Amino acid sequence: MKVAIGCDHGGYCLKEACIRALQELSLEYVDFGTFSEESVDYPDYAEKVCKAIRNGEAEQGILLCGTGIGIGIAANKFKGIRCAHITDLFCAEMAKLHNNANVISMGGRITSPDDAYAFVKKFFTTEFAGGRHQKRVDKITAIEEKE
Ligand code: RB5
Repeated sequence: MKVAIGCDHGGYCLKEACIRALQELSLEYVDFGTFSEESVDYPDYAEKVCKAIRNGEAEQGILLCGTGIGIGIAANKFKGIRCAHITDLFCAEMAKLHNNANVISMGGRITSPDDAYAFVKKFFTTEFAGGRHQKRVDKITAIEEKE
C-alpha cells in the first residue's frame, strides 16, 4: 500500500512526523511536496495527491496545510476521494472505521507534529468496519454519480 503525501507551506512542519509514522508502519510513500516554507497554493498539492490516487500510483493520501481545511475541501472535489479533516485521535480512528476515508487532512497551525504522528499511526492501523457503513459510503459514491 502506497501513501501519497502533499502539503503547502502551512502544513510543511507536519510532513516529517507523518513520514516517520508511515516508515514505522512499513508503508511506502510518495512525496509530492512542497519542500520548504516558501508560500505556495494548497489546491495544487491536493490535486497532485488526489490525481496520484485516482491514477493508481497511490492508494491513500495525507494532505497538510495551515488548518487542514482548504486542502481537504480541494481534495473532496475529486471523484472517489473521501478526505477527512483530522484534529483528534478519535476522528483519526472513525475516519477509517466508519467513513473509509482514503485521504486525511491536518493543519500545521492547529496540530503538533507529535499529534500528527499519532493520528497517522491510528488512521493507517484501523480497518474499515464495512457492513452498514459500506451502504452509507456507497451512498456518497452515488451522489458523485448524480453530479
Ligand atoms: C495559507 O496561508 C493557508 O491559508 C493554508 O495553509 C490553509 O490553512 C488553508 O486552508
